Amino acid sequence: MFRGRSLLCLLDFETHEIEKMLDVSFIMKNYVYHNNVPSSLSGKRVALLFEKPSTRTRVSTELAVSMLGGIPIVLNKQDLQWSRGEPIEDTGRVIGRVVNGIGARVLNHLTLVKLKESSGVPVFNLLSDLSHPLQALADLMTIRERFGNNLIKIAFVGDGTDNVLLSLMAIVAKLGLELHIATPKELKPREDLFKIISEIADDTGSVIEFHEDPYDAVRGVHVVYTDVWVSMGQENIAEQKKKLLQNYRVTSDLMKYAVKDAIFMHCLPANRGEEVELEVIDGPKSAVWDQAENRLYTAMAVFSLFI
Ligand code: CP
Ligand code: NVA
Repeated sequence: MFRGRSLLCLLDFETHEIEKMLDVSFIMKNYVYHNNVPSSLSGKRVALLFEKPSTRTRVSTELAVSMLGGIPIVLNKQDLQWSRGEPIEDTGRVIGRVVNGIGARVLNHLTLVKLKESSGVPVFNLLSDLSHPLQALADLMTIRERFGNNLIKIAFVGDGTDNVLLSLMAIVAKLGLELHIATPKELKPREDLFKIISEIADDTGSVIEFHEDPYDAVRGVHVVYTDVWVSMGQENIAEQKKKLLQNYRVTSDLMKYAVKDAIFMHCLPANRGEEVELEVIDGPKSAVWDQAENRLYTAMAVFSLFI
């Protein structure tokens, strides 16, 4: 079903395939907790390329490869000839000759496509300007740990153009869930991508709606999700985005409008006092540390299925 394929975007996968990735993530978590991890990557070499900084993704993917018996090789862009102008296609061709899979965190999603085409091995999106599929899998895992497989409602408060939100929209649409997005009209998601997501949502019965008022979006939801206002690579438009988003902070007051047992989620890293109040992210409703831990099990699941 997966062997030899790449994971650049969750929209490329059927609902049952996403369910399978989630099932195997839970199985991996159980294996880790029982100290019984299989050697499904025995002898397999996986290159992990980082064009931007990372804590969670770096730790989870490198550990996932090692724990499954594989050999990870972590490469930061500044250490590669890529940073001196060697084409990404040549980089992919060379690395692809000696590894069984490549994970890459890139500034421009097109770089992932070029790596996939040039390397001949499965390529995994470890965050691009467009999307963050491994994060969305860990998020759904975290949501299911709290609420089971119920058809829950999620609110995303913040930047409608955010890469983490795009993957969240994709997984929500594929799984038939409900998502309320509170974002200013200037920061709506890319129309072409949203059209694809809406068509999937129509098929699965998923509801994805937009609100300008965060209180309207949060009323009655089970999960309140946010991400940073300024993503890596957007430093040049930081002030403009902060101005647009100043009323889209997740506060304790906003959380009161969600259901009583609602949780707060954030992919991290977070800016306390900016997109979220300290009292929320460090409070009892916060599920952010579970989300971060679950990144390990989803990386293990994806690598063992695809490589
Ligand atoms: N959430 C996430 O991808 O974190 P890092 O940037 O630390 O990898
Ligand atoms: N939207 C953030 C996510 C970091 C994991 C960024 O791209 O910087």
